[in-house]
Amino acid sequence: MNIPRRLANSRLFWDYVMGPSYNRHVLKIERDLYSFLIDVIDERCAPPENARILDVGSGPGLLAAMLAEKYPHARVVGIDFSPRQVRTANRLLSRRQAGNCSFHVGNADDLPHEDNSFDLVVSTFSLSSWPDIKRGLAEIRRVLACGGKACIIDADSSATEEEIRLFARAYASTGINRYVNEWITRRLVFGPAIAITNHKAATLAENAGFSSVAAEKLPGIPFFILELLK
Ligand SMILES: C[S@@+](CC[C@H](N)C(=O)[O-])C[C@H]1O[C@@H](n2cnc3c(N)ncnc32)[C@H](O)[C@@H]1O
Repeated sequence: MNIPRRLANSRLFWDYVMGPSYNRHVLKIERDLYSFLIDVIDERCAPPENARILDVGSGPGLLAAMLAEKYPHARVVGIDFSPRQVRTANRLLSRRQAGNCSFHVGNADDLPHEDNSFDLVVSTFSLSSWPDIKRGLAEIRRVLACGGKACIIDADSSATEEEIRLFARAYASTGINRYVNEWITRRLVFGPAIAITNHKAATLAENAGFSSVAAEKLPGIPFFILELLK
């Protein structure tokens, strides 16, 4: 297995290196990118009013907390394999109006939930880190209720250089040289060693047994969305 992928799969790496730096960055860009993601999820996979929603690889917890605020009658659960990420997400809850949200340690490969226990599963920027993506998707299918949907968003390795460059600039981490930031974004985050294409994601979801699979690149930004129906 290549080194970038080994790191992306490592819980300790997410606990102590990537998690803290990602969180510092993400918690600053909430207004634009995360509001956009919430709108995309709402448009494509609008959950029923009192839906049970699972966020796989919830990281610092922003998306799950914002979903809980948007759907106050829903119950939102976030899971992440990094205990440190889960602690960060729980701290975030004290600053948000999201009493219907909770975070727990759990692995995408072996979700700690009963069969058929969610109406909607979401996951943002996590799928490509999972060691066995098809198995993670099969786990999502298992925990979804019949007719339940999954909405998964991740870096698309078939995005154009220009889209990746614009994205890297728009969301540049402060303190990192612009060219270094662009190189890391293009070669590591969106590079083929870690990221996959929307076509590959669709094939893996079909093999995981979903009854309907749609995958497309989101317009203007270098991410794909995978819409799945159980
Ligand atoms: C780039 S962060 C994205 C976090 C969050 N979804 C967001 O949009 O801000 C990826 C997260 O996935 C988690 N992760 C990676 N592999 C995982 C796995 N196998 N099971 C559960 N979580 C995982 C990492 O710990 C990290 O918090």
